[in-house]
Amino acid sequence: MAIEPYLFHDYLETKISVDDRSLNAAVRSALLDRIELAADVGGAPAAAPFRVLDIGTGTGAMVRRLAGWISRMPPERRPPRVRIVGVDSEPGSLVEAERRFAPEAGAEGLEAKFIRGDLSRPGAGWAVPGNYDLITANAVLDLLPLDRAVGHLRSLLAPAGSLYATINYDGLTELIPGYEDERYEASLLAWYDRTMDRRRLPEMAEAGSQDDSPSGVAGGRKAVPAGAGGPAGRGAGMGGGSRTGRALAGAVLRAGFDLAAIGSSDWVIFPEAGRYPARDADFLRYILAMIHGEALRNRRLAGRRLEHWYRSRREAVDAGILLLIVHQIDLLALRR
Ligand SMILES: C[S@@+](CC[C@H](N)C(=O)[O-])C[C@H]1O[C@@H](n2cnc3c(N)ncnc32)[C@H](O)[C@@H]1O
Repeated sequence: MAIEPYLFHDYLETKISVDDRSLNAAVRSALLDRIELAADVGGAPAAAPFRVLDIGTGTGAMVRRLAGWISRMPPERRPPRVRIVGVDSEPGSLVEAERRFAPEAGAEGLEAKFIRGDLSRPGAGWAVPGNYDLITANAVLDLLPLDRAVGHLRSLLAPAGSLYATINYDGLTELIPGYEDERYEASLLAWYDRTMDRRRLPEMAEAGSQDDSPSGVAGGRKAVPAGAGGPAGRGAGMGGGSRTGRALAGAVLRAGFDLAAIGSSDWVIFPEAGRYPARDADFLRYILAMIHGEALRNRRLAGRRLEHWYRSRREAVDAGILLLIVHQIDLLALRR
């Protein structure tokens, strides 16, 4: 289901604090250790900038998050200069990313720029082999053919560079308390996963192609919140479907990475005494809208039952009684 760009941007913004609370602490800590290590060259601070690529940057949430993490590291332990490039195929998202990064842009030693690019076009200008010390990918690897994309990302990393791949959906979405027609809701959620398994992914062009034009595919899928891909073994051209989380570990090992850390980053949204924190209520409304939007395209699910489900679940959000659990996986992989 496609939603208006401005709503998609707002969805991504509501997702930031949810992701902040959900990102796996051990995997993040392993990442910060790597950044610290890169900053220290035989006791002297590294002269070259620490180069980061954030793929599928959207409104630049991970760029801002990373900038915050690095700027809070003790000065003697962080790279003195950091250059982050955020890439996305959606020009509107990049405008938002620029605008929202502005307040941090002046942070000492930290630069970010946002570039329009298609991740399925490996030869594009930002995709210089061996050019990055770190690649971040938050809620995006489900949108690409997994094995080829991971292999391509490895080629963009400098020796011993790291891939921090986070919020990779892994096949479980649960709404609590159960809906009055449990079987119907189970069918809705199963269909939601199947739409991730069945969606058309962009072909990965061979390295060397210089086409920077948008794929046109991302826009059609932009409402899908996080991860997907498919069970490992769906073939090199396939995504991980609704099980990108578990498929990803195999994909990074096959591509020539070592696994440095892996753990779950489940979204667990719940009201405390009837009140949701931050903008979680809006976030829940977006998730319900996405499930509803996908179900509208299925004749067996659409109709009065669907509208009743949608109304009743939104009322549960308004009343502050709906919980959401979504299973996801984070990992940090090091280029061998
Ligand atoms: C679910 S959003 C995640 C955005 C951001 N990483 C975040 O966590 O807020 C996925 C992003 O990937 C981008 N995207 C999807 N396919 C792409 C492609 N082939 N090339 C470039 N960007 C793509 C979409 O435009 C979208 O901004």
